Amino acid sequence: MTDIAFHLNGTPIRLGAGDPTRTLLDYLREDRGLTGTKEACREGDCGACTVMVRDGTGRAQAFNSCILFLPQLQGKSVTTVEGLRGPAGQMHPVQEEMIAHHGSQCGFCTPGFIMSMATAHLNGDQNHDRALAGNLCRCTGYAPIIRAAEAAAARPVPDWMGQDAAFTCSEISSGGEARTGLGGQTAPLATGFSPASTDDLAQWYLANPDATLIAGATDVGLWVTKQLRDLAPVAFLGGIADLAQIRQQDGQFHVGAGVTITDLMAAVEDTLPSFAALLARYASQQVRNAATIGGNIANGSPIGDGPPALIALGASLHLRRGDARRLIAIEDFFLDYRKQDRQPGEFVEAVSFADTAPDLRCYKISKRFDQDISAICACFNVTVAQGRVTAARLAFGGMAGIPKRAAAAEAALTGAEWSLDAIRQAQAAMAGDFMPMSDMRASAAYRAEVAAALLERYFHDLAGTATDILEVRA
Ligand SMILES: Cc1cc2nc3c(=O)[nH]c(=O)nc-3n(C[C@H](O)[C@H](O)[C@H](O)COP(=O)(O)OP(=O)(O)OC[C@H]3O[C@@H](n4cnc5c(N)ncnc54)[C@H](O)[C@@H]3O)c2cc1C
Ligand code: FES
Ligand code: FES
Repeated sequence: MTDIAFHLNGTPIRLGAGDPTRTLLDYLREDRGLTGTKEACREGDCGACTVMVRDGTGRAQAFNSCILFLPQLQGKSVTTVEGLRGPAGQMHPVQEEMIAHHGSQCGFCTPGFIMSMATAHLNGDQNHDRALAGNLCRCTGYAPIIRAAEAAAARPVPDWMGQDAAFTCSEISSGGEARTGLGGQTAPLATGFSPASTDDLAQWYLANPDATLIAGATDVGLWVTKQLRDLAPVAFLGGIADLAQIRQQDGQFHVGAGVTITDLMAAVEDTLPSFAALLARYASQQVRNAATIGGNIANGSPIGDGPPALIALGASLHLRRGDARRLIAIEDFFLDYRKQDRQPGEFVEAVSFADTAPDLRCYKISKRFDQDISAICACFNVTVAQGRVTAARLAFGGMAGIPKRAAAAEAALTGAEWSLDAIRQAQAAMAGDFMPMSDMRASAAYRAEVAAALLERYFHDLAGTATDILEVRA
């Protein structure tokens, strides 16, 4: 166990043993009096608690501090809204533009918006809709806020934002060995097991099979903030460099379980654009920056967005228990609702899949375009040779207790001539594949009808007909 060392608004912080699942939000507001960071939903949905986190590579990302545990900050630098001002108290350009464009009314959401905007501004990211999709405003309306972001984008990054003392401080930039000489503030200790390598994790988890693994904490965070669960003992996977690698070789992506959705999205953007477009609708930037593909698979949710795409791609899952490794087809991992083929002490090490699939298409149906969980997620990958279907993978989320292939529909398609007639046969067969449920996201009847309709959409999509549903733009 090591101390946790990070920078907060330029001040070195060192924390030791204590509750490893204390959130950054609670720490900021309760221990540091930094109440500019707001508390609202406490489940990653509204962005009121957004902070900027930089790592040793100089990368700045927005995170929801309400579901970010203190040990996840190891070796990082955190900026809150209080840390944005210049040395002489100057406002940041995004703050000035928010005032000039009337981007705030009650102001409760404003610090969160400001932090997302300042992060995008620092990164030169001008996709304002995407950068701000995780920030909810209930009274101003988004148009003035987007106008403020556009105006700020035309202004240079202030000098003071470019500097970050954390990474000239070797004890912090190396992450966590800092025990003396930081000259900063100390506070009650916050630890958990933070393995440095996958080998360390494998040994420790074998000896502690009841422990909770914490990757991005976008699921686990809610177990603490909503269910008030005590998760000890815990291991934090964020510091395992070899778990966060992406390799592309021999026609395959090999993606470590610790790769975030943001990084996966960037990796697949060129060769698997439909998968990347699906991931762009996964939650919000703040959540994608934290959430990992390993967590998305391991939690076994029937409505996760990663598994249907990976099943359609014929992905293989790399599991590890101690020194023993096994490789299974990803669809075989999901046994029943929230029940996976995973032994005590076994964890997801990686997932591998084809690095190109021209006929892969992914469709996400949810009530809102951004920041919403799928009612139905459909990912199709059909191979047609000389006009006939030679292989079909039709994978769905939201249609059963697990992410699942439409086996009867696939059988109906395989060997058939690729035509609307074959699609109709497959649609009829699909009725026997699933018994979807009704819940707050959709009724069973809606799910069944939309799943069948998506197959037809896929046919037209592959034929080159425009099927994009993006008709409304800000
Ligand atoms: C606001 C919000 C919006 C969301 N929107 C979406 C969405 O649009 N689409 C979607 O698919 N999901 C969504 N999610 C769910 C969540 O982001 C994902 O399930 C996420 O991928 C989990 O990854 P994580 O790294 O945060 O996992 P964690 O929360 O750290 O862990 C999740 C589970 O996986 C286990 N685990 C983690 N890593 C491993 C590993 N390597 N081996 C074995 N077990 C492991 C943990 O022990 C835990 O049981 C959303 C969540 C929030 C809070
Ligand atoms: S308080 Fe809503 S996302 Fe954190
Ligand atoms: S200004 Fe009131 S919620 Fe955004």
